Amino acid sequence: MSNILSETKDGIARIEIDRPDKKNALTAAMYQAMADAIHAAEADAKVRVLLIHGKPGLFTAGNDLQDFLDHPPRDDQRPVFQFLYAISQAQKPIIAAVAGAAVGIGTTMLLHCDLVYAAPNARLQLPFVNLGLVPEAASSLLLPSLIGYQRAAELLLLGEPFSAQKARDIGLVTEVVPEDQLFDTAMAQAKKLAGKPAASLRLTKRLMKQGQAAAVAQRIKLESGHFAERLDSPEAKEAFSAFLEKRKPDFSRFD
Ligand code: COA
Repeated sequence: MSNILSETKDGIARIEIDRPDKKNALTAAMYQAMADAIHAAEADAKVRVLLIHGKPGLFTAGNDLQDFLDHPPRDDQRPVFQFLYAISQAQKPIIAAVAGAAVGIGTTMLLHCDLVYAAPNARLQLPFVNLGLVPEAASSLLLPSLIGYQRAAELLLLGEPFSAQKARDIGLVTEVVPEDQLFDTAMAQAKKLAGKPAASLRLTKRLMKQGQAAAVAQRIKLESGHFAERLDSPEAKEAFSAFLEKRKPDFSRFD
């Protein structure tokens, strides 16, 4: 059971995150399944567009913190980084439908999607510093260039939740749509793209991304080294244990 459901129909590869009892937190196995699904969609000529979504009222609570303790990703060959390389290098358009929690990678993966639809209840957050970690998914590069340094610093240093509307205002979300229309809107846009000339879509995406493609791959690798190092830090261990023990972390013991 990977908790990732994938299905291809009418030219659309749908990837559904399906682990609601743990708020769709992502384990290594789930990252691997998503990376595999993206690679399969890229290789399948019948697939024109990818659609990533979660459950009603829930996108993903980000990395599974227990899984981080049990299987820390020590290098960029690990499933989480394979997923990040796959989503950031995909040639076909990717649409995301986001409702509820979109924490950590639940927010950073949106930087690599082409169209992002979010429900008003979406709650995005980049809590890496609060967890003793560093940003991933090249967000340390892409976010400042998307929204300016100070606004990126607010999101990445304070790590507080922000709304779908704010995400729309800063350009991380394409449109905010009522939750009961979220999936249908994302699917309708996917169908529109699926009917367009596929080679033109791929080339247009490549042209828009070409200027930053090498820098993005390099940044994912650079971040992965710091990330692996920070996972072993006492601050990260304290933050993860505190979350799992349902208490506030205490960082006062660490320099
Ligand atoms: N890793 C592991 N388990 C997680 C998780 C995560 N990232 N997010 C949620 N869960 C688990 C909880 O431990 C809880 O499990 P339990 O029922 O066995 O106790 C269950 O999912 C429900 O979570 P809960 O915190 O009770 O739900 P909530 O609605 O009160 O809050 C969130 C939802 C997403 C705001 C909150 O769960 C959260 O902050 N999660 C951590 C997010 C995070 O830091 N992700 C890492 C980013 S790098």
